Amino acid sequence: MRQKIVAGNWKMNLDLAEGKELLLSIIDGQINEGTTAIVIPPFIHLNSFKQMLSHTKIALGAQNCHQQDSGAFTGEVSAAMLKSVGVEYVVLGHSERREYFMEDSLSLSFKVTKVIEKGLRPIYCCGETLAQRQEGEHFEIIRAQVKNGLFHLNEMELLNCVVAYEPVWAIGTGETASPAQAQEIHAFIRKTIATEYGDMVAENISILYGGSVKPNNAEELFNCPDIDGGLVGGAALDANSFIAICNSF
Ligand code: 13P
Repeated sequence: MRQKIVAGNWKMNLDLAEGKELLLSIIDGQINEGTTAIVIPPFIHLNSFKQMLSHTKIALGAQNCHQQDSGAFTGEVSAAMLKSVGVEYVVLGHSERREYFMEDSLSLSFKVTKVIEKGLRPIYCCGETLAQRQEGEHFEIIRAQVKNGLFHLNEMELLNCVVAYEPVWAIGTGETASPAQAQEIHAFIRKTIATEYGDMVAENISILYGGSVKPNNAEELFNCPDIDGGLVGGAALDANSFIAICNSF
């Protein structure tokens, strides 16, 4: 059964006091049964947020992690450390990480492996730039990102992953992919997975859409047959908007 998921990626926003205030408002809101809501704050908030979430069904995610268990990697955080503070999901391969931190699908495949090995679930991001779409390269780009980042996994491991399609041109721009554009790519990702792993795996993996998801467009996007929820940036920084999106299925 595909999980319905709305994940709020806070990116590098909100200090601890601001973050706690937002989290308390989200906890106070009513999120429908059947939606897995995930809050993904900066690393430094994770430990105290886990305690605040202990009596709720809201899950906690991190925005990145390192592929090694431990060692001389100044400034990095391991999957085991995330696990130890109650994190369940880790975003990997966000386009901002790919663009500003030179991450590529092959190096991300090591992070994916480590996250799964530690019992966490990757939210693996893919998506094309505007130039790539204009050149008609988007299907090939996305297929390569999915294949190079995930296809070293076995079936059970892949079923632990969530995929997020985030067209770079729709992130933070207010420009959303139309439901038809998003559905086309989601169906393509599912078909790519089916070709490698078979229909059972492809049908059971959740594929989220990200890129200017707002309360006024979430329902139409989430109604598409291959869209299982959203990875939300800006609108996740407002409790009412985030809750409204969570309840848009
Ligand atoms: P926006 O919702 O602000 O466009 O951000 C999307 C995103 O990058 C989520 O990871």
